[in-house]
Amino acid sequence: MFFPQQKPCNMSSIMADSSSSLVAVALFLSLFFCANATAKFDQLFQPYWAPDHFSFDGDAVNMKLDNFSGAGFSSKSKYMFGKVNIQIKLVEGDSAGTVTAFYMSSDGPKHHEFDFEFLGNTTGEPYVVQTNVYVNGVGNREQRLNLWFDPTKDFHTYSILWNQRQVVFLVDETPIRVHTNLEHKGIPFPKDQAMGVYSSIWNADDWATQGGRVKTDWTHAPFVASYRAFEIDGCECPVTTADSDNAKRCANSGGWWDQPVLSELNVHQSHQLIWVRANHMIYDYCSDTGRFPSVPAECEHHRH
Ligand SMILES: *[C@@H]1O[C@H](CO)[C@@H](O)[C@H](O)[C@H]1NC(C)=O
Repeated sequence: MFFPQQKPCNMSSIMADSSSSLVAVALFLSLFFCANATAKFDQLFQPYWAPDHFSFDGDAVNMKLDNFSGAGFSSKSKYMFGKVNIQIKLVEGDSAGTVTAFYMSSDGPKHHEFDFEFLGNTTGEPYVVQTNVYVNGVGNREQRLNLWFDPTKDFHTYSILWNQRQVVFLVDETPIRVHTNLEHKGIPFPKDQAMGVYSSIWNADDWATQGGRVKTDWTHAPFVASYRAFEIDGCECPVTTADSDNAKRCANSGGWWDQPVLSELNVHQSHQLIWVRANHMIYDYCSDTGRFPSVPAECEHHRH
């Protein structure tokens, strides 16, 4: 079942109830509002950790970390395949020791997970974006990069595109990572478990900033991350339905994310990814021979 989150403005009811002179006005207004209508936080998400650490400011949802608690929200539904976009403005000023995460995850010991983790830093020093992919409960696939902008100054769009061929991590629509389906090489690919969408902010000063050397300075709390423009366009999976049934249905849902053109990056996106990797990547598990003396199987096949 499709799940277009930009919820339909009901044109037909507007038309039916309106005199013709009002129709034009109503149409104009509905176009205006529909075009701007990103699904509201409440429709898609709910706080799952520390609801009292949330504040709502117009379009934006703020989550704060202080020395009492972090905070987190999760999607109300689970999904298999599709695309999630969230605009995030990260903690301004001193964010050392803090981690803000945006991720998709299934449940259970053999869960799959696609992670963006934003590692804070001292004032003026760059945030690091760490991505990771868990398949069947195993992660250890970290990549790290610096961004080409200051993510604390403005909102930027962070996205996960997931279909049967690939998982793509995007920043302002620029791909920063691709996890390709290599099942034909005997490498498992996550496509059998429904995933929720999550975000959280917490204290991780034991490892996050400069390897854990820089600790959270609580005199600078609260640390606030802001979110807006929530969009989930995917195959929705009722929690009451078995994963295997959802998998069958979502594999044949005919969603736009399964178009052949989305089975791999296009030429422009491939160039963007090469640029990101050449200029902004600071760590790739695939080249960490100290940690992985034999190169992880999927790395040998990754062209990137
Ligand atoms: C923080 O800044 C330092 C110095 O610029 C940099 O080496 C480091 O990668 C940055 N990020 C983190 C998360 O430590």
